[in-house]
Amino acid sequence: MGNYKIDLRSEEEQKVEAERQLQYIDEIREQVSEISENLGRPLYSCVVTFGCQMNARDSEKLRGIFASAGFLDTSNEDDADFVIYNTCTVRDNADQHVYGRLGHLNSVKRKKPGMVIGLCGCMMQEKHIVEKIRKSYSFVDLIFGTHNLYEFPELLLRVIREKKRVIEIMEATPYLPESLPTERKYAFKSGVNIMYGCNNFCTYCIVPYVRGREISRKPIDIIRECEKLAADGVREIMLLGQNVNSYGKTLDEKISFAELLEMVCRVDGIDRIRFMTSHPKDLSDELISVMARNPKVCRHMHLPVQSGSDRILKNMNRHYDREHYIELVRKLREAMPDISLTTDIIVGFPGETEEDFLDTLSLVREVGFDSAFTFIYSKRTGTPAAKMENQVPDDIVHERFDRLLAEVKVSAEKMCARFEGQVMDVLVEEKNKQPGLVTGRIGHNLVVHLTGDESMIGKIVPVRLVACKGFYYIGEPA
Ligand code: 5AD
Ligand code: SF4
Repeated sequence: MGNYKIDLRSEEEQKVEAERQLQYIDEIREQVSEISENLGRPLYSCVVTFGCQMNARDSEKLRGIFASAGFLDTSNEDDADFVIYNTCTVRDNADQHVYGRLGHLNSVKRKKPGMVIGLCGCMMQEKHIVEKIRKSYSFVDLIFGTHNLYEFPELLLRVIREKKRVIEIMEATPYLPESLPTERKYAFKSGVNIMYGCNNFCTYCIVPYVRGREISRKPIDIIRECEKLAADGVREIMLLGQNVNSYGKTLDEKISFAELLEMVCRVDGIDRIRFMTSHPKDLSDELISVMARNPKVCRHMHLPVQSGSDRILKNMNRHYDREHYIELVRKLREAMPDISLTTDIIVGFPGETEEDFLDTLSLVREVGFDSAFTFIYSKRTGTPAAKMENQVPDDIVHERFDRLLAEVKVSAEKMCARFEGQVMDVLVEEKNKQPGLVTGRIGHNLVVHLTGDESMIGKIVPVRLVACKGFYYIGEPA
């Protein structure tokens, strides 16, 4: 699986390629208008995202290309002429979810023979999955991998012109998907990729195999993108990477993530900066002090711990131990006493004993997380952990998972309540289903429902956090 070479072309070649792709968009537009004229209606595209923030950002690029090529966006795949599933393969249930949805899409396509179905994202970087789709899902028209995103316009044009199946999967990224149009889901907040790929090879994780080696974008490109977003009305930026703390290591001119973050803080118009995901092994004191002295950086750190047992952390190849993690938490809280801490935890990693699991439970208690994403270990073909002995039986894993959830709930409810009665800034994100209410987030990432109307969407407003309801607040504009 995978060839780990970084094969990134020169900046000049990147520019030429981006131009080429933009020209393809023009050609698609001509085709789309011709087809629309014949049909007497517009063509609709639908991009469905599975998985993480990275995929969500990639989907915005796919939507941007569709929009520039003259498609109208729909969120209902049954109504679309072109449907793309941007897939995730981090756990097996993500794969199963895609197969299930594909079954449904097949029945829709039977009634609409002109429909074009495409698959991209992390699942497509796994050979056995592509083989399965090639053989058993003949109604899929387009398959491309995570490293082919930059050439989506070209692939789209080929599907339209050739009217036969197109499959393109590269093993490494030759061109970054720079300069492609994007359509943001939210007008007021946006993700910004700062790096692609991951070099960590945690033994359970498929990501390094499907997303390839770590490549950092140049600071100047990132800052320009942030400035453009700010000019476009974006208030909140989420810097995205699988391991943002190791940002800059692949660049000729060395720069740390902390230095980049400080540069982003200087972009006028951006009021809130978040980042995701941090790896405990690379979280520096420098980063903590940059966060502490820049109020624009949200008081929230997502710091996946995965396990509280040193033995399991070692077998996971995480390169830190429990003590190091707890020390990081201490430093973060010392620098920013009210910081919100969230984490990821895996239950049932091969060889996990009751004692190891108790170490995880006690870590949750000791740290006091604001919330935790808890996962049942999922065996991923090709990873070292898949070959480990002592895979934990399902019934034991499920029993531990329930105990972990209960522990997380106690911790999260306690943490959430600590802001009750305070006035905090809320970025209003959307209308609430309940009339007369809107929903937003405080910098600490807690959700707040407050009295208000649509005109507040995208604005940062002071709100009194009146009542804590476990994991969210009811608030009133202050
Ligand atoms: N099984 C279960 N959880 C996993 N994660 C990554 N790989 C696996 C796997 N094989 C979890 C980790 C990671 C999060 C994004 O997904 O906790 O931090
Ligand atoms: Fe996977 Fe580990 Fe890389 Fe995160 S840091 S993407 S868990 S290999």
